[in-house]
Amino acid sequence: MAQVIINSHPLVQHKITMLRSKDTGTNEFRSLVGEIGMLMGYEALADLPTEEVEIETPIEKCMSTVIAGRKLAIVPILRAGLGMVDGLLKLVPTAKVGHIGLYRDPETHEPVEYYCKLPDPIEERVIVVTDPMLATGGSAVDAISQIKKHGGRKIKFMCIIAAPEGLRKLQENHPDVDIYVGHLDRQLNDHAYIMPGLGDAGDRIFGTK
Ligand code: PRP
Ligand code: URA
Repeated sequence: MAQVIINSHPLVQHKITMLRSKDTGTNEFRSLVGEIGMLMGYEALADLPTEEVEIETPIEKCMSTVIAGRKLAIVPILRAGLGMVDGLLKLVPTAKVGHIGLYRDPETHEPVEYYCKLPDPIEERVIVVTDPMLATGGSAVDAISQIKKHGGRKIKFMCIIAAPEGLRKLQENHPDVDIYVGHLDRQLNDHAYIMPGLGDAGDRIFGTK
C-alpha cells in the first residue's frame, strides 16, 4: 500500500486558511495555490532518484548530486490543477507537463473526459498529478487510470484539500499511488462539495462562475 501524507506545515496550513476565506479574491487565490503547490512539491519530491556526477568548482573537482534519469512529468487535471503547476516548475524547471481535461457532471458528479495529452514516453518518469480538490475522488481515479493506460507507473497525487470519501476511493482504486494532502476536511455536502472546503477551486482560480 502506498502512503497518504497529510501535511502539517504551518506555512501550508496558513495559506490554506487564506484560500478558504470567501473574501480572498482571484489574484491572491491564484498566487496562494501556486505557493502551496511549491511547498507541497518540496515534500512530494523528496524521494526523486539522484546520481553523483563529477563537476569542477573554482577550488577543485568533486562528485556532486543531480536528479537522475528521465526526471519528472507534472500532470494537472484541468482546470484547477493548472494552478499548482508553476510552483512545481519552479522546483523542477525541466519537468515535462501533460494535461488531462475532466469536469464533473453537475447532476451525477461523475467525471466527464474531454482531453488527454501526456509526455511520451512516460513509463520511466515520476509523474505528479495535481488537483487542488479531492472530493468524491471520481476525477482523480479517472485521471490516474488514463495515465496508467498510457504506460505511467510511478504516480503521485497532490491535492490541497481532500474529503475522507475521496481519499478512500482513491486509495481503493489506486493503492500504488502516494497521495499528498494539504488538509483533510470533514465531509462532502449533498452537492458533493467539500465542507468546509474553499468552494469551487476552478472558478476561484480563473475568476469564472
Ligand atoms: C473540480 C476539482 C476536481 C474535481 C474534484 O473540478 O478541480 O477536478 O472537481 O471532484 P471529484 O473528486 O468529486 O471528482 P471541476 O469538475 O469543477 O472542473 P474545473 O476544474 O474545470 O472547474
Ligand atoms: N470541486 C471543487 O472545486 N470544490 C469542491 O468542494 C468539490 C469539487
